Amino acid sequence: MKTLVILTGAGMSAESGISTFRDSGGLWEKHHIEDVATPEAWARNPALVQEFYNVRRRQLVEAVPNNGHAGLVELEKQFDVQIITQNVDNLHERAGSRNVLHLHGELMKMRSAGPGQEVFEVKPEKIEFTIHDKCPKGYPLRPHIVWFGEEVPEIGNAARIVEKADILVIIGTSMQVYPAAGLLNYARTGIPLYLIDPNEVEISPGRAIVIRKGASEGVKILEEELLKII
Ligand code: OAD
Repeated sequence: MKTLVILTGAGMSAESGISTFRDSGGLWEKHHIEDVATPEAWARNPALVQEFYNVRRRQLVEAVPNNGHAGLVELEKQFDVQIITQNVDNLHERAGSRNVLHLHGELMKMRSAGPGQEVFEVKPEKIEFTIHDKCPKGYPLRPHIVWFGEEVPEIGNAARIVEKADILVIIGTSMQVYPAAGLLNYARTGIPLYLIDPNEVEISPGRAIVIRKGASEGVKILEEELLKII
């Protein structure tokens, strides 16, 4: 079975009603990154940071996976599908994808801000957190999100997955955030590279076969294309 590695970003979940970051009307137009998504923001105003992610969680529990997510699950019948996502939602897992690596953390997890950095699952009955929520050891609980200026602990694992790819697919990411965007450097030269996005995206290195569609339609076309080459 060929290894199909799929790198997804916010556009993957756009048709599920979750905002992207950099499109017009996207999240970073409405909020300043430095107010809600940096360690400095957490130090300065943790209540604001908690509320930002509470809103994200409230949206996520109402959202459902779209046909794009479902199409990637279908591909598991023919391929060893490995998803590397920059998304902090759990829509790939809820659709049924088995191998999902989260590069930027997960909304449905919280982490101790103390030395052990223990990670806790968020339970559906309590999806909102305040600065008064503590881990069992008494340290504040912070969102399990990789903020700007923080290391990306999973980047090494992601690079090793990309190295094994026989086919690489990029879906719904502007490829502007590093180190995620640099993962393409780990792909073996000459493997087929597909890019699904309704807008133009610049990637380097390599030349992609571009499917200029939204995720749902794009994944359907991808499936047809891939069946021709296996
Ligand atoms: P962006 O908002 O930067 O890019 C979203 C991409 O999705 C763009 O290329 C859009 O054209 C595309 N898009 C929009 N609608 C789509 C649809 N229906 N189907 C497919 N694609 C569509 O989001 P990311 O690249 O994911 O990090 O952003 C990367 C990181 O920056 C995020 O993980 C987040 C953010 O700051 C953190 O919060 C740490």
